[in-house]
Amino acid sequence: MKLPRPRLARTPLDPPAAELRRLHGEYLALARKTVEHALRIGELLCQVKRQLGHGAWLPWLAKTGINARSAQRFMTLWRRRREIKSDKLSNVADAWRVLASAERSAENREMRRHGMLERAAQCASATRDFELHHASCRDAIAVLRPDSVDWIITDPMYQDADLPVHEDLAELAAHCLKPGGSLMCMIGALRLPEILAMLGAKLQYHWVLFYVMDGPTSPVYARKVFNGTRMILWYTKGKYSGTDLLRDTIISDGIDPRFHKWGKSIDGFRQFMRKIVHPGNVVLDPFLGGGTTGEVALELGARFVGFDIDESAIAVSRVRLNEVAARLSPVAVAAE
Ligand SMILES: C[S@@+](CC[C@H](N)C(=O)[O-])C[C@H]1O[C@@H](n2cnc3c(N)ncnc32)[C@H](O)[C@@H]1O
Repeated sequence: MKLPRPRLARTPLDPPAAELRRLHGEYLALARKTVEHALRIGELLCQVKRQLGHGAWLPWLAKTGINARSAQRFMTLWRRRREIKSDKLSNVADAWRVLASAERSAENREMRRHGMLERAAQCASATRDFELHHASCRDAIAVLRPDSVDWIITDPMYQDADLPVHEDLAELAAHCLKPGGSLMCMIGALRLPEILAMLGAKLQYHWVLFYVMDGPTSPVYARKVFNGTRMILWYTKGKYSGTDLLRDTIISDGIDPRFHKWGKSIDGFRQFMRKIVHPGNVVLDPFLGGGTTGEVALELGARFVGFDIDESAIAVSRVRLNEVAARLSPVAVAAE
């Protein structure tokens, strides 16, 4: 079919422009509809699959005319709808692309982690600059001397089941902080009242820092909010002994999953730690994860102690911190 030649340099609403505007609008609306349909298909498939008994899934699926592989993809799309931000996608192909690239980065992370685990086996368990313990926050009390730590800077888990760890943390802080020393504990807002009560039972409330996470927000369906911030609760053992002035708002560049699934941004932690942690201080993180606090503490000339119940978190952090220590003081570490 021969298309009429577009007449250029006319008003924006000349016939081809108007037709293109209409077609493009319809194309976008259809594409959005396709994404909505794909998600609804995934949702229904997930619902039915949950209800069907073992062996009943494939025969039932045959009735829908959707093959097993496509069904799997629709269900994946639905389950991971938050990651792919379906409201921002203009077509289903984009959704698959986003999922495939998330898959690739998860694999890369896993490979990196494996490589690190192997290298960790060859690293010394402690250096002059840091020590890491595969033990819980509660067990850390038996390891650490009373009044021996300047700063506890940490980021425990946020699940309801993990709430009681804040009691262990308060106990640990009361035991090992030097008089005037501080606990800085990153939390989400959902369980704020309970956490304030647990920490306040043993320590003195000092301040709250607001930590804005740049990048995608996460939905908290229970409270109908999209969350893009954390709070860092600041408690002290007795009267705060520091003298530095600290800004209480941190704009971080999001998360850093290179070393841990829930790894925080090194730049975010640097922003506040560099104002308050001094060379020779002892910094403790009893929920170590990928060792973000450890890296910043070493950079600032502090000694670092970390605990985690996950052996692989310890192994990954050990490699990371050895590399940081070597970068900061190559001769000293080589001689260890
Ligand atoms: C949110 S992650 C910390 C991430 C870390 N801030 C980073 O940037 O990599 C919390 C860590 O606490 C550890 N954990 C959970 N319960 C614990 C406990 N009772 N004692 C010590 N570690 C614990 C988990 O294994 C996890 O590695």
